[in-house]
Amino acid sequence: MRFETLAIHAGQESDSSTGAVMTPIYQTSTYRQDGVGKPRHGHEYSRTQNPTRSALQACLGALEGGGHGLAFASGMAATDTVMRLLQPGDHVVAGNDVYGGTFRLFDKVLRGFGLEFTFVDTTDPESVADALQPDTRMVWLETPTNPYLRITDIRAVADIVRAGSQQTLLVVDNTFATPYLQRPLELGADIVLHSTTKYLGGHSDVVGGAVVVKSQEIYDRLAFLQNAVGAVPGPLDCFLVLRGIKTLAVRMDRHAANAAAIAEFLANSPAVKEVFYPFHESHPQRRVAVRQMRNGGGMLSFTLHGGPPAAIRVAEATAIFALAESLGGVESLIEVPAAMTHLSTAGSPLEVDASLVRLSVGIENAEDLLADIGSALSTA
Ligand SMILES: Cc1ncc(COP(=O)(O)O)c(C=O)c1O
Repeated sequence: MRFETLAIHAGQESDSSTGAVMTPIYQTSTYRQDGVGKPRHGHEYSRTQNPTRSALQACLGALEGGGHGLAFASGMAATDTVMRLLQPGDHVVAGNDVYGGTFRLFDKVLRGFGLEFTFVDTTDPESVADALQPDTRMVWLETPTNPYLRITDIRAVADIVRAGSQQTLLVVDNTFATPYLQRPLELGADIVLHSTTKYLGGHSDVVGGAVVVKSQEIYDRLAFLQNAVGAVPGPLDCFLVLRGIKTLAVRMDRHAANAAAIAEFLANSPAVKEVFYPFHESHPQRRVAVRQMRNGGGMLSFTLHGGPPAAIRVAEATAIFALAESLGGVESLIEVPAAMTHLSTAGSPLEVDASLVRLSVGIENAEDLLADIGSALSTA
């Protein structure tokens, strides 16, 4: 089955007891046992297994071409669980333009547990090679990055990691691209991570996370951690993500068509200094983006000649684009990362330009969105 069919059917069979076509929300914490230690259907307790979560996990595994999916209570819960594969003293090479919350977890929490981090510009694979140490156990990529939409050549970095220690895991946060646009496991990554809060859920009504791996051994370790740590999503949240995934392909095509039109419009606006959109001709890693992504996605950012005050004025002046954090929903959002989503990077080498505005372009009518952005830009 191809992607669009898998998105609707993978892991989801009509319910055996009622024939219900949609996966039921198994809102239960526990399961009746036939005898002591004899669970009737292999389920004992919902932190360990829940049928709605199992359907989501199977679907995620199929979409990433990996096989083994695991769902979590948030993208950060997924990240934290993945990091527990490491031991104190281990070294991690991470991108220098990762989501602010990922940076906060690495820098403010996990350093305290003895992990060491080197943040590098992963758009240059050689800088990853230079940062590798004998004790490097993980390389953490985000591509496209949040908020600069920088692109890293996943296959090139995977080759570098493979040429080093066999024990080094390559993790790719695939939240911005989704498996419809990009499949990191096929490009050599060991672990793919998602905030399902974003495009997979797709409707800004759920917080969730996911991890997909190919290796049975890594899966077994992560499944153990998923249960041991317990940062699991509830069944209703799993249902919402499953439902969102069904329309992922059509949504992503529309997000990308709208975003490409807005990127072009912004690039021609005298108020705009720089536009960051992976498939725009001005993007420095456009060639890599076109090679490893199906389209440019729905995220873009731009800076203004008017600096931070202009960024704030524009972000506060739109009518359809809602001023809000998060991304990936059907509705368009606008924000100023330095003052909102990426506040945690202030004063660090990852600090974001305060004149940067980030758009999560929704699937509304493109002309309406262009008119909204156009009128907001007039305040810049
Ligand atoms: C790229 C990326 N990764 C991870 C996360 C964290 O996900 P969550 O907010 O679901 O914990 C986010 C959230 O914005 C993100 O943008």
